[in-house]
Amino acid sequence: MTISETQVAIIGGGPSGLLLSQLLHLNEIDNVVLEQRTRDYVLSRIRAGVLEQGLVDLLDEANVSQRLHAEGEVHSGCEIAFNDDALRIDFAELTGGKGVTVYGQTELTRDLYEARDEMGGTIVHEANNVQLQDLDSDQPSVTYEHSGATHQLKCQFVAGCDGFHGVSRSCIPNSVRREYSRVYPFGWLGVLSQTPPVAEELIYAATSSGFALCSLRSRTLSRYYVQCPLDDDISDWPDDRFWEELKSRIPAAAARALVTGASIEKSIAPLRSFVCEPMSWKRLFLAGDAAHIVPPTGAKGLNLAASDIYYLSRALIDYFNNGTETGLGAYSDKALDRVWMAERFSWWMTNLLHRFPEHSGFDEKMQRGEFTYLKSSQTAQAALAENYVGLPY
Ligand code: APR
Ligand code: PHB
Repeated sequence: MTISETQVAIIGGGPSGLLLSQLLHLNEIDNVVLEQRTRDYVLSRIRAGVLEQGLVDLLDEANVSQRLHAEGEVHSGCEIAFNDDALRIDFAELTGGKGVTVYGQTELTRDLYEARDEMGGTIVHEANNVQLQDLDSDQPSVTYEHSGATHQLKCQFVAGCDGFHGVSRSCIPNSVRREYSRVYPFGWLGVLSQTPPVAEELIYAATSSGFALCSLRSRTLSRYYVQCPLDDDISDWPDDRFWEELKSRIPAAAARALVTGASIEKSIAPLRSFVCEPMSWKRLFLAGDAAHIVPPTGAKGLNLAASDIYYLSRALIDYFNNGTETGLGAYSDKALDRVWMAERFSWWMTNLLHRFPEHSGFDEKMQRGEFTYLKSSQTAQAALAENYVGLPY
């Protein structure tokens, strides 16, 4: 067995792990990222692409935002439609000039990998059978298999950034860990197509046959979604059926303007809300999807990972530079306060815009009433906009 040493062992090379690695390295804190997949595999995952200003600021600080500023689009509003009744939420006007940046998570992950390479960061891909040891001592370690050999990485802290299906979360003992979750009775069928987006801004659409979303990656690449039953399979959705369904769910003017084309990616994702408490135990700190999942309505997943990394990076920097453990001690509570607010917003938007199989006529009237209120009240719109552009860190 080979033995090596670092200050922070980071499990998972998704956006959370890579961003933490980059921020720590910039502050001269040694770290190693252990990722179970290949880089190509990580970069083949298509995820959301709406970045809050807080995340953009953090990427500036991490020196990885050059391409984002050149290619990303700043959006100062979005549309919310109930059948043909549409409402524009003017983020800029309602939040004193704030907006979001549209830039794909896959591109962001690519930028992070490139930045880590340039700085000579250590990322071990295809690290198998990762196991966390001695987390309740001053010298935890992580063992893993790579290229047929077993390795031990000694460290001072472990950052569990290994997503929802990772191993880190389960290292918090059952007697301490509490998990909260809701599984929604539908999924999102997503299509990526090399077509111009149907509109300048995102359109979130609720109809009696279900939710639809028109999003984009660039002026030539569009991302669309329709709500679908959980047991549907991709093979149930040839492109023609997808485009017909999408057209029937978005406002008529958008349906007329929609340019369709061959899908270059198509996938079905279930919708889930999930939170693990606490987000830290002894020398282990969870961040991103390892600790929480939001349904994609509202695009909070990546942004929530970013606020975790903001708190965690500062706490670790404070520990290594100033010898204080205050930030590390406060990390879980601080991160969870913001997590629960984003969970609430994502749950609210999901409930407002989707068709639930178990809904009664009364429930549907409640959704309609909520939309009518939103349309008639600047205060309600301001609350939506404030959450959408991102609550402060
Ligand atoms: N050992 C090592 N790596 C692992 C293990 C393991 N046992 N289990 C999972 N991983 C890796 C995965 O292969 C993945 O690359 O951890 C990484 C976790 O990345 P993400 O799932 O992207 O999670 P995170 O970095 O927290 O990013 C959050 O991504 O999942 C979306 O909606 C989410 O947008 C949000 C953002
Ligand atoms: C996306 O572009 O993939 C996207 C945008 C907004 C969401 C979810 C997904 O709320």
